[in-house]
Amino acid sequence: MNTKNQNSKIVLVTGGSRGIGRSIALNAAKRGLGVILTYHSNAGAGEAVAAEINAAGGKAVALKLDSSQVGSFAGFSERVLEVLKQNWNRENLDYLVNNAGIAQRSLIADTTEEIFDELVNVNFKGVFFLTQKLVPLIADGGQIINISSGLARFAFPGVAVYGALKAGIEGLTRYFAKEFASRKIRVNTVAPGAIDTEFGGGKGDEAHRQQIAGMTALGRLGEAEDVGVLVASLLSDDSRFVNAQRIEVGGGIYI
Ligand SMILES: NC(=O)c1ccc[n+]([C@@H]2O[C@H](COP(=O)([O-])OP(=O)(O)OC[C@H]3O[C@@H](n4cnc5c(N)ncnc54)[C@H](OP(=O)(O)O)[C@@H]3O)[C@@H](O)[C@H]2O)c1
Repeated sequence: MNTKNQNSKIVLVTGGSRGIGRSIALNAAKRGLGVILTYHSNAGAGEAVAAEINAAGGKAVALKLDSSQVGSFAGFSERVLEVLKQNWNRENLDYLVNNAGIAQRSLIADTTEEIFDELVNVNFKGVFFLTQKLVPLIADGGQIINISSGLARFAFPGVAVYGALKAGIEGLTRYFAKEFASRKIRVNTVAPGAIDTEFGGGKGDEAHRQQIAGMTALGRLGEAEDVGVLVASLLSDDSRFVNAQRIEVGGGIYI
């Protein structure tokens, strides 16, 4: 890794402590980006990702963030600014990846208002207001990537609110792209298919995993690395004319 370079671009990855976000953070660092990653309940995991990047010669800082607490976002963005000044001698960053998310495991009949509100707060409201707060810190010409899901495109029992909110994130991506275009900030969606992380308790027993693999053209579940490497590859000027788009990383699930 080589992020000692003062001119390196900087990415902030929410939920960068585990799963897909961790892989995005590690792959971004491998490509020479400075990384600010967030964790929520598991500080040790967040610090471990930052330590791994720093030990390999990159530069990363882990910060705590609860995406459901909109009232904390002003303080969080002040903390981000401090970290940028201290570690990179900069007052802005280049890329924001809205990756943090929580899963749903309840049929419509069993979905309480509490479950509904928590999903909305973390997976949609938090993305909207965190982006609103951080956009002044994103350099002109930067990029935002919102992590959606294959479940925004196809329906599956037990994830109605989650899937609908991810569809909402895809709509929001286009609206962000429209309003932030005056600053040449691009906004894209990456939609993972079924990825083998701890999300929602994991992908279940072998029979369920075989079932998912059978629905996928490439015949397997995805790995966090499949998504991390793709997102990191978008975090460069190579994707400079890709805007308001949805890229699915799912091996061809449900086609
Ligand atoms: N895995 C899949 O099959 C799949 C498929 C499609 C889309 N996705 C999407 O991909 C993204 C990442 O999923 P994943 O599979 O990597 O999940 P994961 O392994 O469960 O990791 C979730 C990450 O989000 C953080 N997080 C959880 N609640 C949070 C909150 N309230 N505020 C801020 N951060 C919070 C976690 O931090 P702590 O551990 O510190 O709490 C962790 O870093 C999510 O948006 C998910 O919807 C996943």
